[in-house]
Amino acid sequence: MAKQDTLLGDSSNLEIETNDNDINNSLDTDNENDINEEIISSEVNNENIDINDNDNEKINCVDNNIDNVEIEQVEHKQESLKSIFNSYINTKSIFKDKNKLTIKYEPNNIAHRDELITQLGGILAPALRGERPSNVFIYGKTGTGKTLVTSHVLNQMKEVASLNDVFINTYYVNCKMKKASDTEYRLLASLANMMMEEDSEFDFKKKVPATGLPTDEVYKIFIDVMSKKKGSIILVLDEIDALIEKVGDEILYNFTRINQDEGVQLTIIGISNNMSFINEIDARVKSSLSDEEILFPPYNAMQLLDILKRRSEEAFVDSVVGEGVLNQCAASAAREHGDARRALDLLRVAGELTERDKKTVIISDFVNMAEAKMEKDHIFESLKAQPKHSKIVLLSMIYLSDKGESRLHTGDVIDKYVSLCALAFVKPLTNRSVGSLITELDMMGLINTRVVSRGRHGRTRTITLSLNNEIKSKAKDFLESELRIKD
Ligand SMILES: Nc1ncnc2c1ncn2[C@@H]1O[C@H](COP(=O)(O)OP(=O)(O)O)[C@@H](O)[C@H]1O
Ligand SMILES: [Mg+2]
Repeated sequence: MAKQDTLLGDSSNLEIETNDNDINNSLDTDNENDINEEIISSEVNNENIDINDNDNEKINCVDNNIDNVEIEQVEHKQESLKSIFNSYINTKSIFKDKNKLTIKYEPNNIAHRDELITQLGGILAPALRGERPSNVFIYGKTGTGKTLVTSHVLNQMKEVASLNDVFINTYYVNCKMKKASDTEYRLLASLANMMMEEDSEFDFKKKVPATGLPTDEVYKIFIDVMSKKKGSIILVLDEIDALIEKVGDEILYNFTRINQDEGVQLTIIGISNNMSFINEIDARVKSSLSDEEILFPPYNAMQLLDILKRRSEEAFVDSVVGEGVLNQCAASAAREHGDARRALDLLRVAGELTERDKKTVIISDFVNMAEAKMEKDHIFESLKAQPKHSKIVLLSMIYLSDKGESRLHTGDVIDKYVSLCALAFVKPLTNRSVGSLITELDMMGLINTRVVSRGRHGRTRTITLSLNNEIKSKAKDFLESELRIKD
């Protein structure tokens, strides 16, 4: 099992892993990388071929009166499906181990993070002497190695601890995951259960139920379980900003009080991609959560190239990927914001596209295609997550722009929005609320707004869509089918 697997766990379960090799117990985690993989495979399904249909079903579906031409077409499709599978089975993969490019794999060799690793190690080291380490707040943009480095440091520390018969208990929660942390109760219950289940003699009847107890009671159980642990307890709250957004910052206040009030040796490592998060929380919480702060800076293009080189050697068969392509991926991810995850995703998707095209060497065109594809996937992921009214506003803009207007006026968008609301049988929001939705769409990068002065008529906002024609047309189809409306 790859090391990070033990830390991050399988996204389908909440259970702790009791494997001896386990370095960390983990609650569920999200895996953004997997989204891309899923989208890739679901696209294969869309290529005019319904993989789920078996031969018989397909024939049964065909109306008896159907003419021969249609039957021939069905048979032809199935033949081509078989030939796709056959050629797939007969061609060698360009990947030696694709996993090595995904977030599931934790590389042993973490380049360009030596100082940060030493810094975090130094902060946590007192746990090895039975002292309580300070809380740590780790922040930096996505893909800067925060999760990886934290996991690595804890793993190493646990290895040293076990060789020296020292107890250190580490727990990991990705707060973005609903199951684990959408309420204070759930988080406490999951943690308490995770801690209890480590005990080989644990009686499963004692598990904290998913709902039902007063929160105070669950706190009591949680503290009680912790007080029975030998050695330090280190709790990693990854994507901690998501937790605060969902349940408020009171929970952090309670957590940071536990060691002072209850005598439990609890250390919290809070990790956030959101740089301003720490300034938005209650001052008391802020000061105790960030006893120590570590900033993860973005990687530059050279550093990303280095990371890609090492990981591509493990992931691809020899001579599949050249330095030019690695450079291209590194440069693209450096422009984004020095995001190693993006660099790795780009390389992986470029590899998948190369393979699908039955080529054996990744060329620059495939990186360009991968870039476009990831952009599109990203847009659709964020579109899907939008509230209904936001979708109606965007569809209004698409309709107006289809009529040839490139620069849209807020007033026209609102008029169109109101008429589409009628088609969708929903009550339109106030102009002010629609204005906020427009601002959000702008922040998401789907549109571009500009405030222009109209002299004595005041000011107005003009809007341009930031979607190219292909994406715009797909977004239109998507929104029309979601909202069940058509202009
Ligand atoms: N220095 C590095 N060397 C190798 N891989 C790295 C390095 N930094 C980050 N990665 C990889 O990039 C991806 C994103 O890193 P991660 O730790 O999840 O970032 P963050 O938590 O800051 O968003 C992961 O797949 C990780 O393994
Ligand atoms: Mg992370």
